Amino acid sequence: MVSGEGTPPPHAPSSPSPPPSCSPCRASPPATPTTTRSTYAHDEHRTVRSYTMQVRSPMHVVLICAQVRMTNVTRLCVTKSIPTVNGQFPGPKLTVREGDRLVVKVHNHINYNVSFHWHGVRQLRNGWADGPSYITQCPIQGGQSYVYDFTVTGQHGTLWWHAHFSWLRVHLYGPLVILPKRAEGYPFPRPYKEVPILFGEWFNADTEAVINQALQTGGGPNVSDAYTFNGLPGPTYNCSAQDTYKLKVKPGRTYMLRLINSALNDELFFGIANHTLTVVEADANYVKPFTVQTLVISPGQTMNVLLTTASNPASPAYAMAISPYTNTQGTFDNTTAVAVLEYAPAPAGNLPLPALPLYNDTGAVTNFSRNFRSLASAQYPARVPLAVDRHLLFTVGLGTDPCPSNQTCQGPNGTKFAASINNNSFFRPRTALLEAHYQRRYAGVLLANFPTTPPHPFNYTGTPPNNTFVQHGTRVVPLRFNTSVELVLQGTSIQGAESHPLHLHGYNFFVVGEGFGNFDPVNDPPRYNLADPVERNTISVPTAGWVAVRFLADNPGVWLMHCHFDVHLSWGLSMAWLVNDGPLPNQKMLPPPSDLPKC
Ligand code: C2O
Repeated sequence: MVSGEGTPPPHAPSSPSPPPSCSPCRASPPATPTTTRSTYAHDEHRTVRSYTMQVRSPMHVVLICAQVRMTNVTRLCVTKSIPTVNGQFPGPKLTVREGDRLVVKVHNHINYNVSFHWHGVRQLRNGWADGPSYITQCPIQGGQSYVYDFTVTGQHGTLWWHAHFSWLRVHLYGPLVILPKRAEGYPFPRPYKEVPILFGEWFNADTEAVINQALQTGGGPNVSDAYTFNGLPGPTYNCSAQDTYKLKVKPGRTYMLRLINSALNDELFFGIANHTLTVVEADANYVKPFTVQTLVISPGQTMNVLLTTASNPASPAYAMAISPYTNTQGTFDNTTAVAVLEYAPAPAGNLPLPALPLYNDTGAVTNFSRNFRSLASAQYPARVPLAVDRHLLFTVGLGTDPCPSNQTCQGPNGTKFAASINNNSFFRPRTALLEAHYQRRYAGVLLANFPTTPPHPFNYTGTPPNNTFVQHGTRVVPLRFNTSVELVLQGTSIQGAESHPLHLHGYNFFVVGEGFGNFDPVNDPPRYNLADPVERNTISVPTAGWVAVRFLADNPGVWLMHCHFDVHLSWGLSMAWLVNDGPLPNQKMLPPPSDLPKC
């Protein structure tokens, strides 16, 4: 699967043979007239031998053919037909090097619309490859295809890819590893081995039915039946002992775990019994190393951690475990998944277990989050904006919609659950916002009046207001090119205070401050860290608290920002930034590819 570091293939395909339907990947290069999207070179064609294979050509173009089709998968003794990429669950690991161009041709063979997001990739001037359905593109309909064509510029580390339509990412996800430039290496000793570990959620039920039913009744959706390590639930669940992820290790070596939280709706604690973890990177940005027993990772976030194995392990194997962190007032999957750190074969039954915090231990989460600092070195500077052009305050949290007459609803007090930013619940447009923007045809698609401060200020983390109804609209915040933005994300206690992992597309931001209660515009900013704040693409707004981030709007396009809990995203906890072109030619959006899907 993985391309070696510069070593030419051969890679064996992981399935018997490529399906004939993949031939368009070889036969038809994307017909685009622009020079920025040049056609495939001939030798690149010839090197695409199998559909799961990646090729490092001399031009550093990585070609992927991604067949989305239904595949039977069994977990917890339940067999489901799920969408997969090339028959794999979790999906294939993609490996590129900083500066490479990644070309992924997606063929949709399923009965759902689909689109793919390259979570954390900045997609400079090239929102066409970003992927969120109805934001940067119309989804790829069944029987159609689309080529994601982008260059990974100025980024390296662990990111991931996932579907960005409805809840399809529960099954359609995989690692996206960006190696640093050849001459560069890591700012820590090179690990003996690097291992991606994706945390996920398994539902016995059909997840599209789960969310559709919840949106219909207004109640909270059914929760997952298991958490998974690389798709495997492990011995704490029904008939899953055979489905246990095992990481085989040698004594006295350092491994780098590339952790990715791909769960739908749950922040997770993670630990390994009798071992410590040294965090060295978050969301593909190096951090000052710090060592912990337990870490917390939110959906959307990635973290590289170094694990040094014991030279004389007392036990042949140790348990790795994940369990949820939440303060929700609703139900949640309160189970623990176990995987095995294996020095020598051992029965998975009675391994030493790591002690993970209780599900609602916000103190443990705060203690952990406080450790993150950028390297902020000469080689890896923290380019945090020091001057701010625009200050914005967004409340993020839940709310309600009235129950339609002639229906009974299962949300709070007979209403329907909703979620919002500044009381605006995002209304999904019928067509892609980025296209509307490129064509300057906004009427009937979007409004440029997203509120930049709360429309009705209240005690956000105190007793909630009586009226919790939200407004609905497809609203954006327009920004002039190169605007320096400070955004305070303020959690609310409406329908219960809980944390929200907010993810920004197209950018990283610097996390300059956070705290509990209501943000204080006088006393909090003087305490900001402007020296070495962590740079991320997803940050958890603390339970009943706030977080302040800064970014420079230097990437033109329309960029979604949303809660990475899919249930909250479905309820409308999202908005978009419309970053206008700058005056120079290299500050303008690229033209759309000719195969951009139609709605
Ligand atoms: Cu990883 Cu818009 O999401």
